[in-house]
Amino acid sequence: LLGEYGEELNMPVYVVGGFVRDLLLGIENFDVDIVVEGDGLEYAKYVAKQLEATMVSYEKFLTASIFFKDGYRIDIATARTEYYERPAELPLVDISTIKKDLYRRDFTINAMAIKLNLGNFGVLYDFFGSRDDLNKGIIRVLHKLSFIEDPTRIIRAVRFEQRFGFNIEKSTLELLERTLEEGYLEKVTGQRVRQELEKILEEKKPLDAIKRLANLKILNHIFAKTYYTKVMEEKLKRLFAGFQELEKIYGQINKFYCVLRILLEFYDEQTLKEVVKKYGIPKKFADDLKVTEKKVGFVKEMVEKRVKFSELYKILGKPVSETAAHIVAYLDREDRKYLFDYLRRVFNTKLEKVSGNMVIKKYNLKASPLIGKIMNELFCKKLDNPEIDEIEELDKLVA
Ligand code: CTP
Repeated sequence: LLGEYGEELNMPVYVVGGFVRDLLLGIENFDVDIVVEGDGLEYAKYVAKQLEATMVSYEKFLTASIFFKDGYRIDIATARTEYYERPAELPLVDISTIKKDLYRRDFTINAMAIKLNLGNFGVLYDFFGSRDDLNKGIIRVLHKLSFIEDPTRIIRAVRFEQRFGFNIEKSTLELLERTLEEGYLEKVTGQRVRQELEKILEEKKPLDAIKRLANLKILNHIFAKTYYTKVMEEKLKRLFAGFQELEKIYGQINKFYCVLRILLEFYDEQTLKEVVKKYGIPKKFADDLKVTEKKVGFVKEMVEKRVKFSELYKILGKPVSETAAHIVAYLDREDRKYLFDYLRRVFNTKLEKVSGNMVIKKYNLKASPLIGKIMNELFCKKLDNPEIDEIEELDKLVA
């Protein structure tokens, strides 16, 4: 249909980028990126109308997204005609436009297009040896300035390399390293770097990618005072092993913040402040990190000793997800299980029959911090034994 609509508007339409790459690799991909030679906005409007979908356009970039009722979405861009190579040679325009669009992209494997118009439906446009690189497993930039034009590609190169088990090609690697040494990554906004790091954390093997970022010294250009060591790696490994369970307990967790708990551990306060600001992280993150950093060793010992939940509660309370993640990074499998049991218990325990007011009335007491203390004691008892009779225990406590 997308090709038919292109035909009706007399515009060449292509599916490009990751979708084509994954199609050739036999990997499922529902991110459809369309490039139109002509007016992408007009095309998007037309498609949305025909398919009864909603269109959101970004006029400045000549792009639009179409949202279907079932949650499916396609992105539409306009091939940039200002890049005409030889505008005089009209017959070439068709190809040179899409070619220019593809040439601006990050890596050869992402720079293929498939035409959707009926006459040429399914024709692959591979101008830069993309398919060959895909077969050989190579990540290669299209031109020398690629990393300088967009230094986040330094991180993307690692992401694709690790995702597919490919290798960054030699001269691309040299360009990457040179761009890095010249400090270009530092010029990128924290938000864009953060987005790329977040994407890495959604990969199947995020640790391999982080390791590679560290080995190529990319990590140092992102977090200047992070020294990647075996110890840090072990912590990250435990953290990743614990994510699934943490998500069950907390609902969705912010993996980026959790990983930062480890990467930024033991930073001096000033640098931590700067990093937190640059990456748009809440200030509370830094405060929590500093507090947890000090007690994590102690908590680890307590967990290893399997102390009562009530004792752990006195030190740990009801931790936010990142604090829990921070501790998880210090614990081995069985110890993690114990911590997860603790967290489940602490979030599921509630006093059902006893309230502050009820205590005041029942024993004819005055409102004072003592009431809070009694409630807390009772809560701790229930943490250790959810089966207790609250009223009976309360009587004992007050007595
Ligand atoms: N792109 C680029 N430079 C960037 C980001 C993106 O050239 N810094 C191009 C790439 O050609 C990419 C396309 O824009 O194929 C879409 O980007 P994105 O959705 O981030 O990546 P995908 O290739 O679709 O990868 P993924 O499978 O992770 O979605």
